[in-house]
Amino acid sequence: MIKKAIILCGGTGSRLFPSTISSNKQLLPIYDKPLIFYPLSVLMLAKIKNILIIVNKGQLEQYKKLLSSGKDLGIKISFQEQDKPRGLPDAFIIGEKFINDNNVAMILGDNFFYGQNLSKLLLECAKIKSGAKIILHSVQNPEQFGIAKIDKKSKKIIKIFEKPKRFISNNAITGLYFFDNKVIKYAKKIKPSKRGELEIIDLLNKYKKNNKLYSETIGRGGAWLDTGSISDYYKTSAFVQAIENRQGLKIACLEEISLLNGWIGKKQILNRINFYGNCEYSNYLKKLLKNK
Ligand code: DAU
Repeated sequence: MIKKAIILCGGTGSRLFPSTISSNKQLLPIYDKPLIFYPLSVLMLAKIKNILIIVNKGQLEQYKKLLSSGKDLGIKISFQEQDKPRGLPDAFIIGEKFINDNNVAMILGDNFFYGQNLSKLLLECAKIKSGAKIILHSVQNPEQFGIAKIDKKSKKIIKIFEKPKRFISNNAITGLYFFDNKVIKYAKKIKPSKRGELEIIDLLNKYKKNNKLYSETIGRGGAWLDTGSISDYYKTSAFVQAIENRQGLKIACLEEISLLNGWIGKKQILNRINFYGNCEYSNYLKKLLKNK
């Protein structure tokens, strides 16, 4: 099972200016909690406990204030800075020491996943021993994402493209990836593209060339939402609000996932309640303790 993962939280967030001029996008709220809680919860659902968060230079303290070492969340969080957006594969160069000789997952800090079979899918993906696995989801606007063309019969990946101008397929490559340890070697071999960044598609193509690129699909019952533009950002917030208010259950409550995983107990939850203070999120945690 994959035991280590990276959350990539750098980038300029320029499409959300002026909101992201002084604060990192991943620290802004999606409805009732910071955006970073959502990708972090995905990793915790995959039972990954050792997590490296890569942040922009100068933003370390803000993240540490929110998550600290992860101890009361039952996980181990470390942080590193990225001095400028060099591209997604840069995560594996920055994170080389952290990854060491392990396999590793990566999730983009602005990706939102939700769905009934999500935990099962994640646990399945985390089993990868060799190669790379991408997660696909059908979208209406494929020109805005990495895209995979899949053979209908064999379900094998025929080709992958980054933001194709011409229609190729509706299968978007989401920002959640599972890699074997070769990812460090491959990331170091990639050359920057015309826009001066290391491209994730080039990294995935290294696996594809060796017939080692695999995919899973989030079915129609699952949601993969965008937080890229202001409008998408608020649609994701509205989605969380609608589900949470209907069910009375929170999406991406880190303490709840950790409690269910058996990683923390009452003491750590009380610490987090103390830390959050008097707010709706704390009230939810208090309710969790009562029903325990
Ligand atoms: O969200 C899924 C999509 O993410 C994939 O379908 C695409 O294949 C993939 O290239 C990526 O596309 P984006 O256009 O969303 O990439 P963007 O450059 O906006 O970066 C995604 C996130 O990663 C964003 O929150 C900022 C962060 N980032 C980005 C770069 C380039 C970093 O932390 N460091 C970086 O160097």
